[in-house]
Amino acid sequence: MKLTIIGSGYVGLVSAVCFAKIGHEVSCMDIDKDKIAKLKSGQIPIYEPGLQEILIENAQNISFTSDLEESLELSQAVFIAVGTPQDEDGSADLSYVLEASEQIAKLSAQDKVIVTKSTVPVGTSKKIEQIIADSGNKNKLSVASNPEFLREGSAIQDFMDPDRIVIGVSDQKSEDILLQIYQSFAPEKIVKTDATTSELIKYASNSFLAAKISFINEMADLCEKIGGNIKHLSNAIGLDSRIGEKFLNPGPGFGGSCFPKDIMAILNVAKKSNVNLSVISSVINSNQVRKNRMSDKIANNFPGGCVKNKTIALLGLAFKAKTDDIRYSAALEIAKNLSKDGAIIKASDPEAIENSRIALKNYANISFYDDFYDAIKNCDAIVIATEWSDFKDLDFDKVKNITNSRKIIDLRNLFDEELITSKGFEYDFVGKRSS
Ligand code: UGA
Repeated sequence: MKLTIIGSGYVGLVSAVCFAKIGHEVSCMDIDKDKIAKLKSGQIPIYEPGLQEILIENAQNISFTSDLEESLELSQAVFIAVGTPQDEDGSADLSYVLEASEQIAKLSAQDKVIVTKSTVPVGTSKKIEQIIADSGNKNKLSVASNPEFLREGSAIQDFMDPDRIVIGVSDQKSEDILLQIYQSFAPEKIVKTDATTSELIKYASNSFLAAKISFINEMADLCEKIGGNIKHLSNAIGLDSRIGEKFLNPGPGFGGSCFPKDIMAILNVAKKSNVNLSVISSVINSNQVRKNRMSDKIANNFPGGCVKNKTIALLGLAFKAKTDDIRYSAALEIAKNLSKDGAIIKASDPEAIENSRIALKNYANISFYDDFYDAIKNCDAIVIATEWSDFKDLDFDKVKNITNSRKIIDLRNLFDEELITSKGFEYDFVGKRSS
């Protein structure tokens, strides 16, 4: 089927390339002409494992353009995958989505289903329907919602092997077209609902996952104080199939472009309807204080809890592994705190150095190293802030040769406590029992 994808950002690009892989003919449209020129020459402007390869393999099924009218020609469904940045009050800024809808309504010369793929507040589909009604376009333009559940770093796998595909539709035609688009997936994975519920499902999923992380982070705090073992706790509660083992890794707090933005947005939706989402409000608080708590945890490894003039090898800058994304990254907040407190920071990350260099340019005493052993050289402590597997393979003998420090502060609980201490290192981690 011929599909149009508007927006070649993360969601748009991954969806476009995966739709091409499952055999659709995809026209990818973006107003950014430079981006389109790069994509035409096979260059992918984001870091996502596997994306480039799939694009090359399926190049015959995908085209790129900045001309919306050309992109819409003969397509049966148009997916809106433009950004929905956070407004100052925390609500999602819909201006790009609504602008795209107006343009689609103006330029569509055949019947189409307009599908929101971007995460949008509840009620957006109705707004788009109104835009279409106001446009006077005589073709049948239906509106549907089909939220994405892609994780950065494993987006291809999430698209190709999803837990579920949610389609929010208001008429038979949209339902038929969306079912046809996803016909290569197992039918039991498809959840059919109305557009409003579909929009809400996306926010509810991200909010629940964020709450799960904050819950385990606070359990780690409790373990630290009363002498429990967070790894055993996390494992044991996760074995209860009603709870599930995933997203129970304690850490420095969740970040990224989705959880922080989406939980603020759902709160905003609820506020407008006078509904009190007290659990979600608490998650926001819990995650905010976490970054300072983690900075204090690092400082408490030094006499008097003072990091002034201490050299810290900060391993990891991205908000999680396998991405160069630093948006709302806990690692970055920690770097800022440590810098303000007078520490000398030697930072390293497999993918996120360039982005971090810009984000941290106003902070003193932060230098960047491509090779993380260069960051470790002569440091006073090693802090693991992102769960890159590269750090898991740390060569302890090599570390001993390049620094006198024997302190590892692991904010991602990557290592086995016994193993590290047997190698002669002091090991502090999230949830470590205070003895
Ligand atoms: C998240 C959701 O997982 C996706 O399903 C969703 O499609 C996406 O948001 C979105 O709305 O677009 P993503 O932000 O890429 O995906 O990253 P996650 O893997 O969910 O991680 C989010 C944050 O939680 C990271 O900072 C990560 O380090 C942290 N985290 C995750 C933990 O601290 N502990 C865990 O156990 C899991």
